[in-house]
Amino acid sequence: MKWGVFVKLRDRVAIVTGGAQGIGQAIAQGLASEGAAVVIADLQEDKAQATAAGVSEAGGRALALKVNVLNLADLQAMVDQALAHFGQIDILVNNAGMLIVKPFLEMTEADWDLQLGVNLKSAFFATQKVAEAMIRAGRPGRIVNVASTSSFTASTIPTVPYDISKAGVHMLTKSSAVQLAKYGINVNAIAPGTINTELARSALEPEKLAKFGQVRIPIGRLGQPQDLVGAVVFLCSDDSAYVLGHTLVVDGGWLA
Ligand SMILES: NC(=O)c1ccc[n+]([C@@H]2O[C@H](COP(=O)([O-])OP(=O)(O)OC[C@H]3O[C@@H](n4cnc5c(N)ncnc54)[C@H](O)[C@@H]3O)[C@@H](O)[C@H]2O)c1
Repeated sequence: MKWGVFVKLRDRVAIVTGGAQGIGQAIAQGLASEGAAVVIADLQEDKAQATAAGVSEAGGRALALKVNVLNLADLQAMVDQALAHFGQIDILVNNAGMLIVKPFLEMTEADWDLQLGVNLKSAFFATQKVAEAMIRAGRPGRIVNVASTSSFTASTIPTVPYDISKAGVHMLTKSSAVQLAKYGINVNAIAPGTINTELARSALEPEKLAKFGQVRIPIGRLGQPQDLVGAVVFLCSDDSAYVLGHTLVVDGGWLA
């Protein structure tokens, strides 16, 4: 990690949902390396603690919280504990997500509710609760949603509610950006392509996944969580002050 005077997020406080592993972990580490204190909010308490410990050992500030983003009381507690521990919230990254792969005809109402709940409803209410705290404190803020290339294009594997949830995240980004702009809160998103994480490996076996990266992604490889960090830091920093409601695609050229 690069600590020093040239960091972009000095004295900021960031909450990263789903920060215990994969993309969220890389984002939490990346924000910390730019000087932000990070709250790692995840269902997996042990992994969240381990990620927070890694950030602290590298010289950063981190707090791990057990949070189920489906639960609105948990989201409120996340905000309250972040404020109690660090005194302010400047950044929220709505990253927590999951993927249900199941044939279209077999998808149940419970699958739909879970998929849309974790990926979309949670981002709406986390945004609402964090924005409320920012507005109350009179502080500007940054919210970054983790959308997907599935926001724009349907997958060939059967993940219809997932794709719909990510299309929703794309519009949540635009709609909430319009509503929150007057408070100095910029809402944007990243849309990752296929990134080598547990979530992607649950949809496609590792060999098939690697082959997909080599053959189908123009840059010739799968993305790694680290590939997304620069885009998120940009959207959280002063460099993107005039960027609102934008979804930045980071996909090795897949959508192109
Ligand atoms: N991996 C990809 O190819 C890819 C592509 C585009 C978008 N995304 C999105 O990136 C985000 C992160 O995914 P990932 O690939 O790192 O997956 P991952 O499975 O490695 O990590 C997801 C994290 O979210 C947490 N989480 C899940 N449900 C939760 C809940 N109810 N409450 C709190 N935490 C919860 C998990 O515990 C885990 O730590 C997701 O929103 C995903 O949809 C992933």
